[in-house]
Amino acid sequence: MLKEGKIMTIGIDKIAFATGQYVLKMDDLADARKEDPEKFSKGLMLDALSITPPTEDIITLGASAAEKILNDEDKEKIDMVILATESSIDQSKAGAVYLHSLLGIQPFARSIEMKEACYSATAALNYAKLHVEKHPESRVLVVASDIAKYGIKSSGESTQGSGAVAMLITSNPSILILTDDNLAQTRDVMDFWRPNYSTTPFVNGMYSTKQYLDSLKTTWREYQKQTGFKISDFAAFCFHIPFPKLAFKGLKKLISETVSASHKEQLLKHFQDSIIYSRQIGNIYTGSLYLGLLSMLENSQTLRAGDTIGFFSYGSGAVCEIFSARLAEGFQKQIQTSHIKELDNRIQLTVFDYEKLFFEEIELDAKGNAYLDFYRTGPFYLSGIKNHQRIYKRVKDK
Ligand code: HMG
Repeated sequence: MLKEGKIMTIGIDKIAFATGQYVLKMDDLADARKEDPEKFSKGLMLDALSITPPTEDIITLGASAAEKILNDEDKEKIDMVILATESSIDQSKAGAVYLHSLLGIQPFARSIEMKEACYSATAALNYAKLHVEKHPESRVLVVASDIAKYGIKSSGESTQGSGAVAMLITSNPSILILTDDNLAQTRDVMDFWRPNYSTTPFVNGMYSTKQYLDSLKTTWREYQKQTGFKISDFAAFCFHIPFPKLAFKGLKKLISETVSASHKEQLLKHFQDSIIYSRQIGNIYTGSLYLGLLSMLENSQTLRAGDTIGFFSYGSGAVCEIFSARLAEGFQKQIQTSHIKELDNRIQLTVFDYEKLFFEEIELDAKGNAYLDFYRTGPFYLSGIKNHQRIYKRVKDK
């Protein structure tokens, strides 16, 4: 409820993530692919990738992430659910409808799906903000959920991953206050794309990294011109993280010679905090930028209420956006600190098992039914397919 005389702010009130229950260590992948392990640990700054079995998809991951943050009151007040994804399970029905149902959200809500590669969660946040501006009592659930699968022995294999980030957008948020300085850029490039007939993307790897960095450089230049902001105005910068090393190159592009040594140290420290989870999970496409935010919030001891954080969102194709947000008073109270343990609890796979599990195709019989083996998942799982309809269940209903 908005108190009289108080200016309404809008932003992230709650945030959580979920990821696959299986993990592939980069050292094992390096060994199998006859690569130097340091190419992955130092060259890409990756230690492990989260792997999902066929019973875990963007819906189960998204529902698991949202389940961690929603209480009964949220479920009564949420009137919009937006799923940002590029791993859609249906060309027609929005995945958000499944999320709405699995999470038990009240019926009078709008549920939609958004797409533009890894960028769309940022568009979803913008739409959620506009909605709350008009309806200050509303709560909007934004879920960014993806499975990044490039293929066995493909050039992108080392940058796969899976996971979802769920964010509750409200007025007077407890964690992050969004501002109004967003600047986007669109450029029609073929750096990474996935036609409808392909289960894995086509990617011009080196070209995509150049597009990422050039989009950052040119948008940052224009953003500074339009807003008057300089890097010295930011306590931290979060990046889309296809793999941490590229985000690190991005940060180095922003750190100009005018930055003091102590501020540079602060930016670098916060950056290291922002890649802790991505190092262990890999790319989760739409959620990667916000996984970086959560990693930084949960692992930094030096962020303070009122600090301004910069964001660089990038989706191949390509659309990017730079914007800023401010940490809310008391944000630390809303942040859990248990995610490292959760990651340590994943089941470690051999490369042989990873190749089987991650790339197993669901086979339908003539009537459109499929029966799935048991695998460990989060609290929700895909139990099977009946007459071409995906059937989701809670683990306790098994
Ligand atoms: P690659 O062939 O695995 O690696 O391709 P590389 O040969 O370029 O080496 C990677 C780094 O490791 C280099 O560092 C090497 O020097 C270093 P850099 O020079 O760049 O600083 N290296 C070593 N370091 C230490 N010890 C060693 C060693 N050997 C080499 N022994 C590539 C990498 C990213 C191209 C590949 O993984 C790929 O295609 N990935 C998928 C595409 C991708 O992630 N693109 C990122 C930008 S596009 C984006 O962000 C959007 C996206 O998320 C999708 C969406 O929007 O939906 C992907």
